[in-house]
Amino acid sequence: MTLAWIGFSVATAAGLTSVVRFMFPNVLFEPPTRFKAGDPSTYSLGVDERWKEKFGVWIVRNTTQIYALVATCTHLGCTPNWLPAQNKFKCPCHGSGYYISGINFEGPTPRPLERAQIWESTDDGQIMVDKAVRYLYERGQWSDPMAFIKTA
Ligand code: FES
Repeated sequence: MTLAWIGFSVATAAGLTSVVRFMFPNVLFEPPTRFKAGDPSTYSLGVDERWKEKFGVWIVRNTTQIYALVATCTHLGCTPNWLPAQNKFKCPCHGSGYYISGINFEGPTPRPLERAQIWESTDDGQIMVDKAVRYLYERGQWSDPMAFIKTA
C-alpha cells in the first residue's frame, strides 16, 4: 500500500513538473533580422565574414554590386564555410558547394544560397540588411533593386 502511494506521488510530481515546464517554455532569443552593416567603403572586393557569426550573413562585393548572402545551406540548413583558396562556399555536412555568387554547383543541394534584402540607409549612407526578406535566384529575384547595392 505504501509503495503504491509512493508510486502515485512520484507520478503526480512528474506530471506536475511537465505542466510547469509547459508554462515556461525554453525561449530561443534570435538576433534581430535587420541590422546596420557599416559603410559600403569598408567592404573590399570579395567575401566579408564580419557578420557571419552574429547574423548568419556574408556581405559580398564584386566589381558592380554589393549583396548579402544568407549563410544557410539550402540542402538541410547547415552553415557553409567560405574557402578563399578555392573561391567557393562549402557545406561541411554533405558537401554542397556554391560559387561566390551563391549559385550551387556541387553536392546534394537543389538550389542556390538565398540573398537577403540590402540597401543604403537614406539617413547615413550605411548598409542595411534585413534577413527576413529573401531573394531567390530560381525565381529571378536577384535582379530586384533591393537584392543588391549598385556600386558601378
Ligand atoms: S546541409 Fe549542406 S550539404 Fe547538406
